[in-house]
Amino acid sequence: MRRPSASGQNFAQKVMANTILIGAQWGDEGKGKIIDVLTAEADIVVRSQGGNNAGHTVIHRGKKYILHLIPSGILRRGKVCVIGNGVVIDPIALVKEIEGLKNLGVRIGRNLLVSDAAHLVLPYHRALDEQRELRKGAAKIGTTKRGIGPAYGDKAARTGLRVSDLMQPRLFSKKLEAKMRENNAILRALGAKPNDFREVNQQYLAAAAALSPFVANTVVYLHRALQSGREILFEGAQGTFLDIDHGTYPYVTSSNTTAGGACTGSGVPPHRMDRVVGVMKAYTTRVGEGPLPTEDASFAKKLHQMGREFGATTGRARRCGWFDAVATHYATMINGIDELAITNLDGLDEVNPISICVGYRLNGKRLDVPPCDSAQWNNCEPIYETMPGWSESTRSARKFSDLPKRARDYLKRISGLTGAKLTIVSVGPTRAETIVL
Ligand code: IMP
Repeated sequence: MRRPSASGQNFAQKVMANTILIGAQWGDEGKGKIIDVLTAEADIVVRSQGGNNAGHTVIHRGKKYILHLIPSGILRRGKVCVIGNGVVIDPIALVKEIEGLKNLGVRIGRNLLVSDAAHLVLPYHRALDEQRELRKGAAKIGTTKRGIGPAYGDKAARTGLRVSDLMQPRLFSKKLEAKMRENNAILRALGAKPNDFREVNQQYLAAAAALSPFVANTVVYLHRALQSGREILFEGAQGTFLDIDHGTYPYVTSSNTTAGGACTGSGVPPHRMDRVVGVMKAYTTRVGEGPLPTEDASFAKKLHQMGREFGATTGRARRCGWFDAVATHYATMINGIDELAITNLDGLDEVNPISICVGYRLNGKRLDVPPCDSAQWNNCEPIYETMPGWSESTRSARKFSDLPKRARDYLKRISGLTGAKLTIVSVGPTRAETIVL
């Protein structure tokens, strides 16, 4: 039976309910930190799409953790983390991530489950990702070069290898050999170096042995957990406008980063989801190419000079722009966002005045929703309104009322334009620097 939505209640006091957390912009919204905060009330944290293109940063007890494939919930004791069927897994990268976390003192054992139905990222996916980007020249997507697109491509073409294959060494080697023969021919034709089957096979079988204790039918696990009343947090990766269907196509990733992806990528049906929390920055950023109508070079320079806005996965300087309420309003609609978590408010502490995009102008016409076509989206001219900055640090604020009035007014304005209820504000990277409304 569907439980009542937890909207509007204090996170610290309420029952968490099954929650989908998604990025409402172009990724890098600060989801890692918010997931870490929400995980306190969840029993299970699930990743349902993307791969190690994601980079979720969590700062805990002075240590910085960057998670790529493993849900951020792994940092909290007593939580079970699930890598669902919708994720594409590079087994070598996953083993490395597990080892890296263990070296930082994180306990990983029965608290991690990996879906047997998840697809694998193989070396030829990474090589093809790189080659395709090279060949596109100026029209490149700006991918993370982790092989994500080619791996999802194989999945859709029904030619992918899955974790269940990896768990059967002889079958895996046979399938891998055939796939590598075909892909090496493609790589050679593109003028790229082919991969050595024996070497890859050996590496992947070693990773298989390391991962086998974690592999399970995670769909069954999650349904049993639901039956026993356990609460699940679905940790979205990337962001709404990187969604393969709803994003700035073709400048997108290859999975459904929007709320629906949590269902298909985990096997948990829609009627078991109780609320959707949308995470957005108090301004806008993106890495990689593609439309970003509110991009502003001098604002970006200011943020970079403050040491902010460098990608967690690739270290690339992010493109930065003003808050785009046309985009976030659309994101609220697609995802059914009930609650908003606004992050990086402190990034605006020294910015005055602050612009907010409240509409687009395209060919002399006003638009209140983004156009489908990326070239048109790119040509949209933002219609701005400006608000005065607060010109003081917000980092010590722990209650909404601790914030300067101008910061509160700004938050109310962007939440009003977005059309969802503001429930969390983040004013710094650590857990403590969080305001729950
Ligand atoms: P891919 O997912 O590596 O294929 O990259 C496709 C696009 O999504 C590129 O613009 C990437 O920069 C972007 N992207 C992929 N993962 C992330 C992420 O976790 N945060 C932000 N952008 C991402």
